Amino acid sequence: MNPEAQLLYEDMKTHLAKLVPDVELYYKSEIAVEINALKKERNAIILGHNYMEPVLFYSIPDFKGDSLDLSRKAASTDKDVIVFCGVKFMAETAKILNPSKKVLLPASKAGCSLAESITAEDVRALKRKYPGVPVVTYVNTYADVKAESDICCTSGNAIAVVESLHTDTVIFLPDQYLAGNVARETGKHVIFPSLGAESLPDTLLDVQMVGWKGKCEVHDKFTVEDIRAIREQFPDVAVLTHPECPPEVVAAADYSGSTNAMIKYVQQSQAPHFLVLTECSMGDNIAAANPDKDLLRLCMVRCPHMNMITMENVRDSLLHDRYVIDVPEDIRVRAFKAVDRMIKIG
Ligand code: 13P
Ligand code: SF4
Repeated sequence: MNPEAQLLYEDMKTHLAKLVPDVELYYKSEIAVEINALKKERNAIILGHNYMEPVLFYSIPDFKGDSLDLSRKAASTDKDVIVFCGVKFMAETAKILNPSKKVLLPASKAGCSLAESITAEDVRALKRKYPGVPVVTYVNTYADVKAESDICCTSGNAIAVVESLHTDTVIFLPDQYLAGNVARETGKHVIFPSLGAESLPDTLLDVQMVGWKGKCEVHDKFTVEDIRAIREQFPDVAVLTHPECPPEVVAAADYSGSTNAMIKYVQQSQAPHFLVLTECSMGDNIAAANPDKDLLRLCMVRCPHMNMITMENVRDSLLHDRYVIDVPEDIRVRAFKAVDRMIKIG
Protein backbone atom coordinates (compact mmCIF):
# COMPACT_ATOMS: atom_id res chain seq x y z
CA MET A 1 0.00 0.00 0.00
CA ASN A 2 1.39 3.46 -0.82
CA PRO A 3 2.03 5.77 2.17
CA GLU A 4 -0.89 8.12 1.39
CA ALA A 5 -3.35 5.21 1.19
CA GLN A 6 -1.88 3.81 4.40
CA LEU A 7 -2.53 7.11 6.20
CA LEU A 8 -6.10 7.28 4.90
CA TYR A 9 -6.68 3.67 5.85
CA GLU A 10 -5.43 4.29 9.40
CA ASP A 11 -7.62 7.38 9.70
CA MET A 12 -10.75 5.59 8.47
CA LYS A 13 -9.99 2.70 10.80
CA THR A 14 -10.12 4.97 13.84
CA HIS A 15 -13.73 5.91 12.98
CA LEU A 16 -15.04 2.86 11.21
CA ALA A 17 -13.30 -0.27 12.53
CA LYS A 18 -16.52 -1.45 14.21
CA LEU A 19 -18.79 -0.66 11.26
CA VAL A 20 -16.96 -1.57 8.07
CA PRO A 21 -14.96 -4.73 7.24
CA ASP A 22 -11.22 -4.15 7.19
CA VAL A 23 -10.85 -5.34 3.63
CA GLU A 24 -13.31 -2.68 2.46
CA LEU A 25 -11.42 0.08 4.29
CA TYR A 26 -8.22 -1.15 2.71
CA TYR A 27 -9.60 -1.24 -0.82
CA LYS A 28 -11.50 2.08 -0.52
CA SER A 29 -8.48 3.94 0.86
CA GLU A 30 -6.71 3.25 -2.45
CA ILE A 31 -9.66 4.69 -4.38
CA ALA A 32 -9.64 7.71 -2.05
CA VAL A 33 -6.00 8.37 -3.03
CA GLU A 34 -6.99 8.34 -6.73
CA ILE A 35 -9.89 10.73 -6.00
CA ASN A 36 -7.66 13.12 -4.06
CA ALA A 37 -5.18 13.27 -6.94
CA LEU A 38 -7.97 13.94 -9.46
CA LYS A 39 -9.47 16.56 -7.17
CA LYS A 40 -6.19 18.47 -7.19
CA GLU A 41 -5.70 18.07 -10.92
CA ARG A 42 -9.24 19.32 -11.70
CA ASN A 43 -9.21 22.05 -9.02
CA ALA A 44 -12.38 20.46 -7.65
CA ILE A 45 -14.25 20.54 -4.36
CA ILE A 46 -16.24 17.56 -3.09
CA LEU A 47 -19.40 18.29 -1.10
CA GLY A 48 -20.89 15.37 0.84
CA HIS A 49 -24.39 15.18 2.29
CA ASN A 50 -24.78 13.65 5.76
CA TYR A 51 -26.47 10.61 4.15
CA MET A 52 -23.36 9.42 2.35
CA GLU A 53 -22.24 5.92 3.25
CA PRO A 54 -19.65 5.83 6.05
CA VAL A 55 -16.48 5.12 4.06
CA LEU A 56 -17.20 7.88 1.57
CA PHE A 57 -18.39 10.22 4.35
CA TYR A 58 -15.17 9.77 6.33
CA SER A 59 -12.72 9.98 3.43
CA ILE A 60 -13.18 12.28 0.42
CA PRO A 61 -15.56 15.24 1.07
CA ASP A 62 -14.00 18.66 1.66
CA PHE A 63 -17.24 19.72 3.32
CA LYS A 64 -20.04 17.65 4.81
CA GLY A 65 -23.41 18.83 6.01
CA ASP A 66 -27.12 19.23 5.50
CA SER A 67 -28.79 20.79 2.46
CA LEU A 68 -28.56 24.34 3.79
CA ASP A 69 -24.91 24.06 4.70
CA LEU A 70 -23.95 22.56 1.38
CA SER A 71 -25.90 25.24 -0.52
CA ARG A 72 -23.88 27.88 1.29
CA LYS A 73 -20.61 26.09 0.49
CA ALA A 74 -21.61 25.70 -3.16
CA ALA A 75 -22.37 29.41 -3.35
CA SER A 76 -19.02 30.48 -1.98
CA THR A 77 -16.48 28.08 -3.50
CA ASP A 78 -13.85 29.38 -5.89
CA LYS A 79 -12.94 25.92 -7.22
CA ASP A 80 -13.58 25.15 -10.91
CA VAL A 81 -15.52 21.94 -10.37
CA ILE A 82 -18.07 20.98 -7.70
CA VAL A 83 -18.61 17.23 -7.25
CA PHE A 84 -21.87 16.78 -5.38
CA CYS A 85 -22.11 13.61 -3.32
CA GLY A 86 -25.85 13.82 -2.81
CA VAL A 87 -28.88 13.78 -5.09
CA LYS A 88 -29.87 15.68 -8.21
CA PHE A 89 -31.85 18.51 -6.62
CA MET A 90 -28.82 19.31 -4.43
CA ALA A 91 -26.44 19.39 -7.40
CA GLU A 92 -28.91 21.60 -9.27
CA THR A 93 -29.00 23.99 -6.31
CA ALA A 94 -25.20 24.21 -6.48
CA LYS A 95 -25.44 25.08 -10.19
CA ILE A 96 -28.19 27.64 -9.56
CA LEU A 97 -25.97 29.38 -7.00
CA ASN A 98 -22.69 29.12 -8.84
CA PRO A 99 -23.39 28.97 -12.59
CA SER A 100 -19.83 29.55 -13.78
CA LYS A 101 -18.68 26.29 -12.13
CA LYS A 102 -18.93 22.83 -13.57
CA VAL A 103 -21.19 20.77 -11.28
CA LEU A 104 -20.91 16.98 -11.41
CA LEU A 105 -23.34 14.44 -9.92
CA PRO A 106 -21.64 11.02 -9.91
CA ALA A 107 -24.91 9.06 -10.47
CA SER A 108 -27.28 10.52 -13.07
CA LYS A 109 -30.34 8.76 -11.63
CA ALA A 110 -29.89 9.87 -8.00
CA GLY A 111 -33.31 11.50 -7.60
CA CYS A 112 -35.69 12.06 -4.69
CA SER A 113 -39.34 11.05 -4.20
CA LEU A 114 -40.18 14.58 -3.00
CA ALA A 115 -38.61 16.27 -6.02
CA GLU A 116 -40.48 13.86 -8.31
CA SER A 117 -43.82 14.62 -6.64
CA ILE A 118 -44.45 18.05 -8.17
CA THR A 119 -44.01 19.83 -11.51
CA ALA A 120 -43.67 23.49 -12.42
CA GLU A 121 -47.15 23.32 -14.00
CA ASP A 122 -48.58 22.07 -10.67
CA VAL A 123 -47.14 25.18 -8.98
CA ARG A 124 -48.53 27.46 -11.68
CA ALA A 125 -51.98 25.89 -11.20
CA LEU A 126 -51.79 26.52 -7.44
CA LYS A 127 -50.78 30.14 -8.07
CA ARG A 128 -53.78 30.54 -10.37
CA LYS A 129 -56.04 29.10 -7.69
CA TYR A 130 -54.58 31.21 -4.88
CA PRO A 131 -53.43 34.44 -6.57
CA GLY A 132 -51.09 36.59 -4.52
CA VAL A 133 -50.37 33.91 -1.90
CA PRO A 134 -46.59 33.50 -1.47
CA VAL A 135 -45.08 30.16 -2.49
CA VAL A 136 -42.53 28.53 -0.18
CA THR A 137 -40.80 25.57 -1.79
CA TYR A 138 -38.68 22.97 -0.04
CA VAL A 139 -35.22 22.70 -1.64
CA ASN A 140 -36.02 19.04 -2.37
CA THR A 141 -37.48 20.10 -5.73
CA TYR A 142 -36.12 20.57 -9.25
CA ALA A 143 -35.00 23.93 -10.62
CA ASP A 144 -38.16 24.61 -12.68
CA VAL A 145 -40.30 24.24 -9.55
CA LYS A 146 -37.98 26.53 -7.57
CA ALA A 147 -38.27 29.04 -10.45
CA GLU A 148 -42.04 29.29 -9.81
CA SER A 149 -41.50 30.00 -6.10
CA ASP A 150 -41.05 33.13 -4.02
CA ILE A 151 -38.64 31.58 -1.56
CA CYS A 152 -37.11 28.19 -0.81
CA CYS A 153 -36.60 26.54 2.56
CA THR A 154 -34.75 23.55 3.98
CA SER A 155 -35.63 21.37 6.93
CA GLY A 156 -33.27 23.58 8.96
CA ASN A 157 -35.04 26.88 8.34
CA ALA A 158 -38.63 26.09 7.20
CA ILE A 159 -40.27 27.76 10.20
CA ALA A 160 -38.05 30.85 10.00
CA VAL A 161 -38.80 31.15 6.27
CA VAL A 162 -42.58 30.91 6.76
CA GLU A 163 -42.46 33.42 9.60
CA SER A 164 -40.26 35.79 7.59
CA LEU A 165 -43.13 36.32 5.12
CA HIS A 166 -45.43 37.91 7.72
CA THR A 167 -48.54 36.73 5.86
CA ASP A 168 -51.57 34.83 7.11
CA THR A 169 -51.48 32.31 4.27
CA VAL A 170 -48.68 30.51 2.43
CA ILE A 171 -48.46 27.85 -0.24
CA PHE A 172 -45.96 25.33 1.14
CA LEU A 173 -44.67 22.66 -1.28
CA PRO A 174 -44.30 19.74 -1.81
CA ASP A 175 -43.77 17.79 1.43
CA GLN A 176 -47.09 17.15 3.16
CA TYR A 177 -45.34 16.03 6.35
CA LEU A 178 -42.93 18.96 6.56
CA ALA A 179 -45.96 21.20 5.95
CA GLY A 180 -47.81 19.44 8.79
CA ASN A 181 -44.83 19.85 11.09
CA VAL A 182 -44.39 23.54 10.25
CA ALA A 183 -48.13 24.05 10.73
CA ARG A 184 -47.92 22.43 14.17
CA GLU A 185 -45.00 24.65 15.22
CA THR A 186 -46.44 27.88 13.86
CA GLY A 187 -50.04 27.33 14.96
CA LYS A 188 -51.28 27.35 11.36
CA HIS A 189 -53.30 24.62 9.73
CA VAL A 190 -52.78 23.05 6.36
CA ILE A 191 -55.14 21.95 3.57
CA PHE A 192 -54.38 19.88 0.47
CA PRO A 193 -56.48 21.24 -2.40
CA SER A 194 -57.59 19.42 -5.52
CA LEU A 195 -56.70 21.14 -8.76
CA GLY A 196 -59.01 19.57 -11.35
CA ALA A 197 -60.95 21.93 -13.62
CA GLU A 198 -64.11 20.93 -11.76
CA SER A 199 -62.67 21.78 -8.33
CA LEU A 200 -64.35 24.65 -6.54
CA PRO A 201 -62.17 27.50 -5.31
CA ASP A 202 -61.32 27.03 -1.65
CA THR A 203 -62.12 29.92 0.59
CA LEU A 204 -59.00 31.36 2.16
CA LEU A 205 -60.93 32.53 5.19
CA ASP A 206 -59.59 29.84 7.50
CA VAL A 207 -56.86 28.41 5.29
CA GLN A 208 -53.39 29.25 6.52
CA MET A 209 -51.21 26.78 4.64
CA VAL A 210 -51.85 25.22 1.27
CA GLY A 211 -49.85 22.01 0.94
CA TRP A 212 -49.12 19.28 -1.60
CA LYS A 213 -49.24 15.53 -1.18
CA GLY A 214 -45.54 14.80 -1.71
CA LYS A 215 -43.61 12.68 0.74
CA CYS A 216 -40.18 11.24 1.35
CA GLU A 217 -40.23 7.51 0.66
CA VAL A 218 -37.68 6.98 3.45
CA HIS A 219 -39.12 9.04 6.31
CA ASP A 220 -42.64 7.88 5.50
CA LYS A 221 -41.66 4.44 6.81
CA PHE A 222 -41.21 5.45 10.46
CA THR A 223 -44.22 5.01 12.74
CA VAL A 224 -45.39 5.95 16.21
CA GLU A 225 -45.35 2.22 16.95
CA ASP A 226 -41.56 2.17 16.32
CA ILE A 227 -41.14 4.84 18.99
CA ARG A 228 -43.53 3.15 21.43
CA ALA A 229 -41.70 -0.19 21.10
CA ILE A 230 -38.28 1.40 21.69
CA ARG A 231 -39.49 3.42 24.68
CA GLU A 232 -40.93 0.26 26.23
CA GLN A 233 -37.48 -1.34 26.14
CA PHE A 234 -35.43 1.82 26.81
CA PRO A 235 -37.61 4.29 28.77
CA ASP A 236 -34.82 6.89 28.95
CA VAL A 237 -34.03 6.89 25.23
CA ALA A 238 -33.88 10.26 23.40
CA VAL A 239 -35.81 9.91 20.15
CA LEU A 240 -34.80 12.23 17.28
CA THR A 241 -36.71 12.60 14.03
CA HIS A 242 -36.29 14.41 10.75
CA PRO A 243 -39.21 16.80 9.98
CA GLU A 244 -39.89 14.80 6.79
CA CYS A 245 -41.40 12.14 9.13
CA PRO A 246 -45.20 12.12 9.57
CA PRO A 247 -46.35 14.77 12.11
CA GLU A 248 -47.61 12.14 14.58
CA VAL A 249 -44.13 10.57 14.59
CA VAL A 250 -42.48 13.96 15.13
CA ALA A 251 -44.96 14.70 17.94
CA ALA A 252 -44.05 11.40 19.66
CA ALA A 253 -40.30 12.15 19.49
CA ASP A 254 -38.16 14.25 21.85
CA TYR A 255 -36.53 16.33 19.15
CA SER A 256 -36.90 17.05 15.45
CA GLY A 257 -34.42 18.84 13.21
CA SER A 258 -32.39 18.85 10.04
CA THR A 259 -29.67 16.25 9.59
CA ASN A 260 -27.08 18.71 10.98
CA ALA A 261 -29.29 19.58 13.93
CA MET A 262 -29.70 15.92 14.86
CA ILE A 263 -25.94 15.35 14.66
CA LYS A 264 -25.40 18.30 17.00
CA TYR A 265 -28.08 17.09 19.39
CA VAL A 266 -26.36 13.71 19.83
CA GLN A 267 -22.97 15.40 20.32
CA GLN A 268 -24.30 17.71 23.01
CA SER A 269 -26.81 15.54 24.86
CA GLN A 270 -25.94 13.26 27.75
CA ALA A 271 -28.93 10.95 27.17
CA PRO A 272 -28.09 7.30 27.93
CA HIS A 273 -29.47 6.07 24.57
CA PHE A 274 -30.43 7.67 21.26
CA LEU A 275 -32.77 6.59 18.49
CA VAL A 276 -32.28 8.64 15.33
CA LEU A 277 -35.23 8.19 12.97
CA THR A 278 -33.72 9.07 9.63
CA GLU A 279 -32.01 7.15 6.89
CA CYS A 280 -29.57 4.58 8.15
CA SER A 281 -26.16 5.63 6.80
CA MET A 282 -26.46 8.79 8.85
CA GLY A 283 -27.06 6.60 11.90
CA ASP A 284 -23.77 4.82 11.10
CA ASN A 285 -21.97 8.14 10.62
CA ILE A 286 -23.19 9.47 13.98
CA ALA A 287 -22.29 6.20 15.72
CA ALA A 288 -18.78 6.43 14.22
CA ALA A 289 -18.32 10.01 15.45
CA ASN A 290 -19.63 9.26 18.96
CA PRO A 291 -18.12 5.95 20.08
CA ASP A 292 -18.94 6.76 23.72
CA LYS A 293 -22.72 7.11 23.02
CA ASP A 294 -25.29 4.37 22.73
CA LEU A 295 -27.10 4.64 19.40
CA LEU A 296 -29.96 2.20 19.16
CA ARG A 297 -30.32 1.14 15.56
CA LEU A 298 -33.52 0.86 13.61
CA CYS A 299 -31.59 0.57 10.44
CA MET A 300 -34.18 -0.48 7.96
CA VAL A 301 -34.30 2.43 5.56
CA ARG A 302 -31.48 3.54 3.32
CA CYS A 303 -32.29 6.29 0.83
CA PRO A 304 -32.02 4.44 -2.49
CA HIS A 305 -31.01 7.65 -4.26
CA MET A 306 -28.22 8.64 -1.87
CA ASN A 307 -27.10 5.01 -2.06
CA MET A 308 -26.27 5.44 -5.76
CA ILE A 309 -23.24 7.60 -4.91
CA THR A 310 -20.14 5.44 -4.47
CA MET A 311 -16.39 6.01 -4.22
CA GLU A 312 -16.06 4.36 -7.63
CA ASN A 313 -18.50 6.66 -9.41
CA VAL A 314 -17.05 9.76 -7.69
CA ARG A 315 -13.67 8.79 -9.14
CA ASP A 316 -15.28 8.22 -12.54
CA SER A 317 -17.11 11.53 -12.38
CA LEU A 318 -13.77 13.35 -12.08
CA LEU A 319 -12.13 11.17 -14.70
CA HIS A 320 -14.85 11.41 -17.33
CA ASP A 321 -16.66 14.62 -16.39
CA ARG A 322 -19.94 13.00 -15.53
CA TYR A 323 -22.69 13.70 -15.00
CA VAL A 324 -22.69 17.40 -15.82
CA ILE A 325 -25.61 19.27 -14.22
CA ASP A 326 -26.97 22.15 -16.27
CA VAL A 327 -29.96 24.40 -15.66
CA PRO A 328 -31.39 26.55 -18.51
CA GLU A 329 -30.44 30.15 -17.81
CA ASP A 330 -33.99 31.58 -17.77
CA ILE A 331 -35.00 28.98 -15.15
CA ARG A 332 -31.77 29.37 -13.22
CA VAL A 333 -32.15 33.12 -12.84
CA ARG A 334 -35.67 32.78 -11.40
CA ALA A 335 -34.73 29.82 -9.18
CA PHE A 336 -31.70 31.76 -7.93
CA LYS A 337 -33.96 34.48 -6.53
CA ALA A 338 -35.88 31.95 -4.42
CA VAL A 339 -32.76 30.13 -3.16
CA ASP A 340 -30.79 33.32 -2.54
CA ARG A 341 -33.68 34.87 -0.60
CA MET A 342 -33.66 31.79 1.64
CA ILE A 343 -29.90 31.89 2.16
CA LYS A 344 -30.09 35.58 3.10
CA ILE A 345 -32.54 34.91 5.91
CA GLY A 346 -30.34 32.08 7.22
P1 13P B 1 -31.37 17.97 5.39
O1 13P B 1 -31.55 19.28 4.74
O2 13P B 1 -31.87 17.95 6.80
O3 13P B 1 -29.96 17.52 5.27
O4 13P B 1 -32.29 16.90 4.64
C1 13P B 1 -32.19 16.60 3.30
C2 13P B 1 -32.92 15.38 2.97
O5 13P B 1 -33.10 15.05 1.81
C3 13P B 1 -33.46 14.60 4.05
O6 13P B 1 -34.12 13.49 3.55
FE1 SF4 C 1 -35.35 12.52 -0.99
FE2 SF4 C 1 -36.09 11.18 1.16
FE3 SF4 C 1 -33.85 10.47 -0.11
FE4 SF4 C 1 -33.97 12.78 1.30
S1 SF4 C 1 -34.11 10.70 2.10
S2 SF4 C 1 -33.12 12.51 -0.75
S3 SF4 C 1 -36.09 13.40 0.92
S4 SF4 C 1 -35.94 10.36 -0.92
